[in-house]
Amino acid sequence: MPGPIAYDWLVDSQTNRRANPDRPSPGDVTALAVAVPDLGGLLSGWADVGHGTLPRRLAHALRRAIQSGVLPTGWRLPPERQLAESLAVSRTTISEALDELRGEGLLRSTQGRGTFVSSPVQAAPVGTRVADHLSVGRGVDLATGNPPDLSHLPNVEIDMSLLTASGGGPGVYVMGLPAMAEAVADLYRRGGFTGPPRRTDADEIHITSGAHQAMSLLIAALVGRDRPLALAQLNYPGIFDILDGQGLRAAPVGIDSAGMLPESLEQVIVEQRPAALYVQVGPHNPTGKVLPPARVRALAEIVDRYDVAVIEDNTLAALTFPGVSRPETFLDACRSAPVVSIGSLSKVCWAGLRLGWIRAPQPLIEQTMYRRLSIDLGASAPSQLIALSLLPHLDDIAAERRRRLVEAVEYGHALLSEAMPEAVIGRPEGGSVLWTELPIADSGPFVSLARRHGVHVAPGSICVTGRLPGPYLRICVDRPLDLLREGADRLARAWRDARPSPLVAG
Ligand SMILES: Cc1ncc(COP(=O)(O)O)c(C=O)c1O
Repeated sequence: MPGPIAYDWLVDSQTNRRANPDRPSPGDVTALAVAVPDLGGLLSGWADVGHGTLPRRLAHALRRAIQSGVLPTGWRLPPERQLAESLAVSRTTISEALDELRGEGLLRSTQGRGTFVSSPVQAAPVGTRVADHLSVGRGVDLATGNPPDLSHLPNVEIDMSLLTASGGGPGVYVMGLPAMAEAVADLYRRGGFTGPPRRTDADEIHITSGAHQAMSLLIAALVGRDRPLALAQLNYPGIFDILDGQGLRAAPVGIDSAGMLPESLEQVIVEQRPAALYVQVGPHNPTGKVLPPARVRALAEIVDRYDVAVIEDNTLAALTFPGVSRPETFLDACRSAPVVSIGSLSKVCWAGLRLGWIRAPQPLIEQTMYRRLSIDLGASAPSQLIALSLLPHLDDIAAERRRRLVEAVEYGHALLSEAMPEAVIGRPEGGSVLWTELPIADSGPFVSLARRHGVHVAPGSICVTGRLPGPYLRICVDRPLDLLREGADRLARAWRDARPSPLVAG
């Protein structure tokens, strides 16, 4: 069993229980109270995280350590030879990784003096938030928020006649197979999975490669460089990757325990004139909360008043737990503001299908089609044929998913309360995430430590505007129960290693 990471934890539960006004900024390394680390320990598991070659992965791990302030500005790295030895890689791997960070301005080398951390506040490279929690490597994965397997799905066969009915031929349809667009339009017309029944034509549907692509296309179509996208300051990590990737700005809206605050939304609209608002009515990723209907109405009244377009992400709506009212939608609550919605089969069926959709007025659908053509030529036909075979069973599949998730959330909550007694673990109203607050200033180093213990959880910072370090973990419990137990046991061991007990107890 590897030993504990050799640095001190800033543990101050009183400070963390407050709204964290004095939470350290990424550049404020003194506040992190880190006696700078044994790099081997800090970067442990680096080769299993991130994407690409070994040097790229090493650069990724070092970048994270610098950007979270764990490696302070001015700190001198050990010589390359020593680094190569302690990380058990070649000198070439080290120099390529350091070159990459020098290129980004995060490291600076001076002849004869060595290599120094240059700046912790550089903008992160594009796309790293989702990468950080999706690319897992060895160990128990409690980070990826998707169904773990296909065991909740009926056995279906691809029905090629559906392709033939769609026109057959090469099978390339940028807006989706006509039969698929029609089937999704029908989901809206029938209601249930997509909320109350709504008139919807197939030409108001664009089949995308998941909700993530749907968001990306809509944001590209609706948000220009001169105006930001308003969104809750705590959010699905992918939305920030999308904004970074398109060089766009976020206008963060404040939240309370129920979700987005109307007064903060109004202030953001008045002061920053956002081009659109992105909302999850719930269950929200990562808090698992459903916006209360009165809150949806108050927010809708504001977007109506200022005529702000709304991008409503209903990806998780069908996973609202029994006993919690299904979220009221902006589509219903808004009287005049344009509302477009996004859906997906990832959370209810299987994320590997890579199928989602946009529902929007036809002219906007057409705009997203042109954006789409700059990226790819449409979703995979076999995926859509599988989906078409699953759709008739969708209500039963969703019910089974809810049943399993309720069980996993209950079990996971009990296990994690035992594993980390000082943690405050959220009670989601749907979905698969336990949003967990630890009595430490920055959960990032604990995530690295947990990885050394063979369990992968995500730091809450990937869900926050500015990626500020904070005390939260995003733990996905959508796993078979025995795997969940194993993951919780490993987290318990990591937590025992992490806490210098007098500090946590105080
Ligand atoms: C709120 C939200 N929107 C969108 C997505 C992306 O889903 P998809 O796999 O359909 O691209 C996710 C996935 O975690 C999500 O939680």
